[in-house]
Amino acid sequence: DKGDYPHHMLKEIYEQPETVANAMRGRLDDSDSTAHFGGLNLTAKQLRNIDRVVMTACGTSYHAGLVGEYLFEELARLPVEVEYASEFRYRNPPMDPRTILVAITQSGETADTLAAMREGKRMGHPALAICNAVGSTIAREADGGVYLHAGPEIGVASTKAFTSQSTVLTMLALYFGRTRHLSSLQGQRIIDELRALPDAIRKALGCHEQVKKIANRYAECNNFLYLGRQYLYPVALEGALKLKEISYIHAEGYPAAEMKHGPIALVDPHTPSVFLVPRGNVFDKVMSNMQEIKARRGPVIAVCSEGDREVATVADDMITVPDVPEYLQPIVTAIPLQLLAYEIAVLRGCDVDKPRNLAKSVTVE
Ligand code: F6R
Repeated sequence: DKGDYPHHMLKEIYEQPETVANAMRGRLDDSDSTAHFGGLNLTAKQLRNIDRVVMTACGTSYHAGLVGEYLFEELARLPVEVEYASEFRYRNPPMDPRTILVAITQSGETADTLAAMREGKRMGHPALAICNAVGSTIAREADGGVYLHAGPEIGVASTKAFTSQSTVLTMLALYFGRTRHLSSLQGQRIIDELRALPDAIRKALGCHEQVKKIANRYAECNNFLYLGRQYLYPVALEGALKLKEISYIHAEGYPAAEMKHGPIALVDPHTPSVFLVPRGNVFDKVMSNMQEIKARRGPVIAVCSEGDREVATVADDMITVPDVPEYLQPIVTAIPLQLLAYEIAVLRGCDVDKPRNLAKSVTVE
């Protein structure tokens, strides 16, 4: 049921303040300043011994895994590798016995993710699933896991699953961090910041009118670039994927500084670059990448902090998002990119909820 929304995708985009709150419900623990999960099923010994994490997934869930890599490194100081499930399943990578596998999947039925998880289990690694669909094959076969509780995702383009997966990965990083080096004060700060997140998402949705205007200006373009750094590099990939799959526009996501190693040759007045440039550690670096694009006469659409005058001196168009700590920026900045892909697809007359050639869950390899 779409309610008052014209498409499932738009409804699901607007559900995100609630779905992210649902992912956190009952899992934040003030007394120990950590997160708790009912079903990880790791013994205390396994937990202590973990010294490496391999995340495996496809598509949007893979992009959430890339966000997880930054989160685990920063908050838990755990080395992480993120692997496309379709690649991992046919490789034979040397894996330390103390590695755990984390399969990330909305549907819990993606054939390659299932096969990758089985392969990891066969090699003797504990496998956790971060999954939305309750009782799905991957949820059942995993040794333990965390449900998203996001409710059914019907639009083929994944939206609310991505923000919930990123939220669960943040809580897992907090949990592992607290068993290692994070102090209770640091843990409590993260809990407080997580609690403020649904409200920040609600505010981010307030950019919808800005996004509609921008969609109108650029809907005819046939090539887009999406650029971000650090935590926002995976969001650049995800923004490009959203645009490709529902509007059939060629789009590429890149780490912003990698541009000058080739892709900048694509920049011209008809190729907009969507920059993820909220305030944070790499702000100045991203600003100078933005100037490089402007110097080649490429239009710049900036997703940035409210009232950012410095960005305004370079960007042609701005979409503002509320300020959140850097490790939560992927969740907040994903919202305008989902809306941008949606509005452009609608303007181009595309079937938003059922894009051509795509199925909601890919159960063949
Ligand atoms: C993109 C999209 C796909 C899925 C991918 C994995 O919008 O929906 O890329 O993310 O097929 O699906 P799950 O998460 O169900 O394993």
